Amino acid sequence: MNPGAQADSLRSFDPELASLIQREHERQSSTIDLIASENHVSHSVRAALGSLLTDKYAEGYPGRRYYSGCGVVDDIETLTVDRAKAVFGSEHANVQPHSGSQANFAVYQALIPPGSTILGMDLSHGGHLTHGAEVSFSGKFFRSMTYGVDRKTHRIDYDHVRALALHHRPSLIIAGASSYPRIIDFSIFGDIAREAGAPLMVDVAHIAGLIAGGVHPSPVPVADVVTGTTQKTLRGPRGGFILSKASHSSKIDSAVFPGSQGGPLMHVIAAKAVCFREALLPSFSEYARSIVENSRIIAQQVMDEGLRVISGGTDNHLVLVDLASLNITGKEAELALERAGIVANRNKIPYDTRSAMVAGGLRVGTAAITTRNFGVDEVVTIAQLICQVLRDPSSESLRARVQSRVREMCERHPIPGAD
Ligand SMILES: Cc1ncc(COP(=O)(O)O)c(C=O)c1O
Repeated sequence: MNPGAQADSLRSFDPELASLIQREHERQSSTIDLIASENHVSHSVRAALGSLLTDKYAEGYPGRRYYSGCGVVDDIETLTVDRAKAVFGSEHANVQPHSGSQANFAVYQALIPPGSTILGMDLSHGGHLTHGAEVSFSGKFFRSMTYGVDRKTHRIDYDHVRALALHHRPSLIIAGASSYPRIIDFSIFGDIAREAGAPLMVDVAHIAGLIAGGVHPSPVPVADVVTGTTQKTLRGPRGGFILSKASHSSKIDSAVFPGSQGGPLMHVIAAKAVCFREALLPSFSEYARSIVENSRIIAQQVMDEGLRVISGGTDNHLVLVDLASLNITGKEAELALERAGIVANRNKIPYDTRSAMVAGGLRVGTAAITTRNFGVDEVVTIAQLICQVLRDPSSESLRARVQSRVREMCERHPIPGAD
């Protein structure tokens, strides 16, 4: 059945749900998505996701399944693994993790016993929940130590990371972040891990596409294990993956299945294969370069308008804006922008005293607008509109003006793959 016929069938069987999906389609089409962890996938990724592969149970790995009828899905998973290895140049890849968090859970299970010490980036300095936050399994099952960024430069304080690692001798060192706008020096992390005698895990969930496109250094040569997601800058389906040295492969594989998951989502694995194929094309490097260029344009424009940008700029797909000078919280900024058709999220900034629900910053990402091919002038305009709304968040006339500019721009840039 073609996608049009599939949509017709859903509309006639479940009009209530079909109309909700249609509303979401309209929301995405008519707003500008600046959520740094989101993107818009291609028709091909969407086709694999909507395929009948969702019907197949395939517990185990290619050639070692607990079900019959797995010949075809074996070939699909092998193809996906081979492409992941080709994209990142890794010795081993596991493409079964249902998400980035599941990937991290599996790695901890593979490498360290419960109760051991992990050293990761503090959530409020840009790290992820699964790097040791107390509300997550990572902070509950492990003794979590955290490092952060320098108060002035907002760059990772590598000397502090080294001092903590040598003092606490963690069983695992974790690099990687959810809201850190600068290049992460994985070679320094590699040195620190060696000096401390700990394995190094790097979580590239956010920057996987930038690494694939050659605009951020790769951790693969220095890390024992690399985890990531396919849905962010890599522009694939929601899902996780794990890359590792060959020596860790069997521990990693058994920590994913049967250690922490059941049957793999074969339709998602197929969609990951499409996304890795796309990432191997020369045009993907161009895409990655444009993501960073657009991010730099936004950072510069926001600073030109007198706002403070954390670390004074960006090297990657995201910009973290400090809202203190505007006397507005992240929560208020997020709401005002959404009402005007610009979707970004509140975010803690380093040394923020507000809770994550309120937050003193705004995180802006450029992966999705770059996919929609917004031009340089339009990206400048987006930054200007953001600043206007942040300066006058309760003005109804401004909201209406910005929203109509946003709609005009969105009409010129339909979401690829969403018709
Ligand atoms: C650095 C990092 N790791 C892991 C994850 C978790 O990914 P998921 O939401 O797929 O579980 C995220 C999500 O934003 C992330 O930023």
